[in-house]
Amino acid sequence: MDIKKIIDLSKKPKLFERSDQKFWDDPHISKKMLEVHIDPEFDAASRSYEFIEESIDWLVERILTGEDQNILDLGCGPGFYSKGLAEKGYSVTGIDLSKRSIEYAKEQIESEELDVEYKVQNFLELDYDQKYDAVIMMYCELGALTNQERDKLLEKVNNALKPGGVFVFDVFTANKREEHELNKSWDAVQQGFWAGNPYVSLTETFFYPEADTYLNQTIVVNEDDEISLYRIYEHYYDKGTITKVLDNFGFINHSFYSDLTGKKYSPNSRTLAVVTEKL
Ligand SMILES: C[S@@+](CC[C@H](N)C(=O)[O-])C[C@H]1O[C@@H](n2cnc3c(N)ncnc32)[C@H](O)[C@@H]1O
Repeated sequence: MDIKKIIDLSKKPKLFERSDQKFWDDPHISKKMLEVHIDPEFDAASRSYEFIEESIDWLVERILTGEDQNILDLGCGPGFYSKGLAEKGYSVTGIDLSKRSIEYAKEQIESEELDVEYKVQNFLELDYDQKYDAVIMMYCELGALTNQERDKLLEKVNNALKPGGVFVFDVFTANKREEHELNKSWDAVQQGFWAGNPYVSLTETFFYPEADTYLNQTIVVNEDDEISLYRIYEHYYDKGTITKVLDNFGFINHSFYSDLTGKKYSPNSRTLAVVTEKL
């Protein structure tokens, strides 16, 4: 076993250094993620059906109120929002990096006449020009991006929107982490989340206070001594920090809520939902 490599990988990396390992589109991990997405008991990848229904009702009644709206759902996962909005009469494009999630999303609408198009696509490579009345990005995915990726995405979202169109998204706040310690843990299993064969995993959380960012890093070693590295960033925001970012990309009239059901803004909330408009 290459212990030296494991020791090296265990050191705190530079902020936003990525590993080149696939996560969302790894064949085994994406299967596990889809199981988590569609498990109504588990809130880790998609939120509960009740929350999503409430969220769609809020969007329909308060946010997406124009006629014949075209909606772009970024990181649509298994398509809960895309399908729900199409059922309310919107025209929706859902894109996601995970082939498995997109296949599942397509299966869910097979027997229905809904105006939804699903595509396997990286949202960092969007190329739309003033096509959409609204872009939505649900469940704190913006905070998983490095600052450079986030800025690239905001530029592309702005281009994809018609003037006056809205971008709706949520982020975690600092409150999410208050109860957590920075921890290290390990696991040794026959099969599990990270692989279908026996492996040992070493997980550690790092904090970058200068960038309001946490990193959950997992090193996985399999029976053949192959080492894989997974890094998942979590950048948290508050009203002030997200406003500064949005102001740089031609967004105006930001409104803030505690979550994506439109609950009144509270500084104690673990999430911050934002509706912002293209100039
Ligand atoms: C936390 S899940 C949320 C899924 C969905 N919005 C929901 O709330 O049910 C984030 C989703 O973003 C997708 N994703 C992550 N990075 C992506 C990228 N660069 N391009 C497209 N999709 C991406 C993942 O595959 C995953 O389905």
